[in-house]
Amino acid sequence: MRRFGLLQYPEKESLSKKVFNQYFKLSSINAKYDDIVIEPRKFDTRVTKYLDSYDGLNVTVPFKEDIIKFISPVEDAREINAVNCIYQNKGYNTDWKGFYNSLLDTDLKLPILLVGAGGASKAIIYGLYKLGIKHLILVNRTIEKAFKLKDFFKTKIDITVESFENLKDALKRSKTFINATSIGMFGESFNFSNEDLSNLHLIYDIVYNFTSLQEQALENNIKLIDGKTFWYYQAVENLKIWGIYDEVRFYDTFVNGNFS
Ligand code: ATR
Repeated sequence: MRRFGLLQYPEKESLSKKVFNQYFKLSSINAKYDDIVIEPRKFDTRVTKYLDSYDGLNVTVPFKEDIIKFISPVEDAREINAVNCIYQNKGYNTDWKGFYNSLLDTDLKLPILLVGAGGASKAIIYGLYKLGIKHLILVNRTIEKAFKLKDFFKTKIDITVESFENLKDALKRSKTFINATSIGMFGESFNFSNEDLSNLHLIYDIVYNFTSLQEQALENNIKLIDGKTFWYYQAVENLKIWGIYDEVRFYDTFVNGNFS
């Protein structure tokens, strides 16, 4: 049996575990996907055991950068400085590729406002750069992190940083809004009025569960790309890297499964 898993902390039953195991079952792939929890202070001593014993791994918060010294990152993963997929000791970043693929059929209207400056935002900014976007507005609660990202990507994309207090103001001036924070994951909300969203053509919310932002997008007839879709596109890239991608079966698993 082939083994796949997700390195994470703290413990949280992942969407990956649910969908991939269902996919393996429906496709008669002899494999199992585990959620693997490692305490951050034990990461360096424990991780090699998993690298040796698993056929393929995903990596999520908070290990996407820490893992790099243990594997060989491919060029884009090195440029983003984050790895979320591993195969045969190589580190990939499928977040950016998934984000990029999810927008290939979308005419992105400018300006683009991105909120969040964590790991997911790095992949998203790189994806926007690969899509040919030259400029974006970046807001983050901790503004220093937004300035760090601006500096990190300065040779690739022009970033205007605005404060979190100015979020609504920036939103009113934007046509595309991307939420790359965890706001909505535990029921929190942005508290935008419908009027605040009136200029928008697209809301891209990376949170997996149905958030009030997503509800508002639907209510206001704004095109919505949600977190499950984002997950799906990056998952496809993982399966391709691991050599076990069946387009039809994976799509069927995802669409017909009831994954909450
Ligand atoms: P990920 O890898 O998913 O991006 P992360 O690196 O922990 O996860 O980043 C979480 C992001 O959500 C950050 O931008 C964080 O803002 P801070 O940098 O200020 O911490 C943002 N975030 C989480 N909860 C938030 C909240 N309640 N209000 C505003 N921003 C929030």
